[in-house]
Amino acid sequence: MAILVCGGAGYIGSHTVRQLIAAGEEVIIADNLSTGHRAAINSAVKLYECDIRDKAALKKIFAEHEIEVVFHFAAHIEAGESVHLPLKYFNNNVYGMQVLLEAMTECGVDKIIFSSSAAVYGDPERIPVDELDKTEPTNPYGESKLIMEKMIRWVSAAQGVRYVSLRYFNAAGASEDASIGQDYHNPTHLITVTLQVPLGKRDHITIFGTDYPTPDGTCIRDYIHVVDLADAHVCALNYLRGGGESNFFNLGTGHGFSVKEIIDAAEKVVGREIKKEFGARRLGDPVQLIASSEKARKVLKWTPRFDDVERIIATAWQWHSLHPNGYEDK
Ligand code: UFG
Repeated sequence: MAILVCGGAGYIGSHTVRQLIAAGEEVIIADNLSTGHRAAINSAVKLYECDIRDKAALKKIFAEHEIEVVFHFAAHIEAGESVHLPLKYFNNNVYGMQVLLEAMTECGVDKIIFSSSAAVYGDPERIPVDELDKTEPTNPYGESKLIMEKMIRWVSAAQGVRYVSLRYFNAAGASEDASIGQDYHNPTHLITVTLQVPLGKRDHITIFGTDYPTPDGTCIRDYIHVVDLADAHVCALNYLRGGGESNFFNLGTGHGFSVKEIIDAAEKVVGREIKKEFGARRLGDPVQLIASSEKARKVLKWTPRFDDVERIIATAWQWHSLHPNGYEDK
């Protein structure tokens, strides 16, 4: 039986596909290549170029392959953008999830591993945040992920689909051999944007807000290496195969870094100063997000391998400096 990876040509999806293949799994990918890249996946892997909202296309895949479990990465992910374009997020993420669940249940596919997000928590009441804390998103992206989680939960209760929902904190870094990494047309993520300055692709990094109630006034996040996220998916697969009940887990390192600390760390990695400017707060940004991942460590037996933020940034730097134009250079 095969694993269907929706969004398998994207950033986290492609790293997970690689990990699954290394573990000896048969993988099929569905990706509309809107942000994913054909070059991010091994040419031996079957790719269906289709949209998550195209039920007929999904059902064709389920008819052509015996699919044991679906991994669902195919979503829009930019919290800042979602504040201005909420319907883009509700359409692709929420409606896409509805179509996927319809296709799965109509075709008898009963397991799903879902890419959820720390954004479901909004501004947490306590740090580190654990899975039972209040979920009150501060942006439409986080809201869409929370609705998607709820949809799976209700479908699970009614139709017996088992799921693992993985709430990623801030995904960062690239494969250690620098062969795959993050490549968005207009990147907005902090580490990628910061590294564009020494790459000569932008003049400076703008720090969005310096008056937050944190020690240096900038937002704090928990940066987790993309390979550690990929590993967690393999753990989740084994968990479901072992009969584990439907469940949801935070995935982070448990360490928080402010925007200024990340830029300082990036300067150390690249060995030179990175020009910065101070700007207004970005709408929808929570002040601080740091994970408690005790549950994933205990139940999924997951241990992140990258616990040093400079090492994480170094893998991103290696990828970007070897491929300044992303997959175009491959
Ligand atoms: N930031 C800047 N300048 C920039 C880009 C970002 O100051 O040019 C700041 C942001 O304001 C924020 C922090 O850097 O305070 C991190 O921002 P990112 O855009 O890198 O990431 P987000 O925390 O907004 O969101 C990311 C993913 C989401 C995920 C979330 C989980 O995009 O999909 O992490 O914490 F849900």
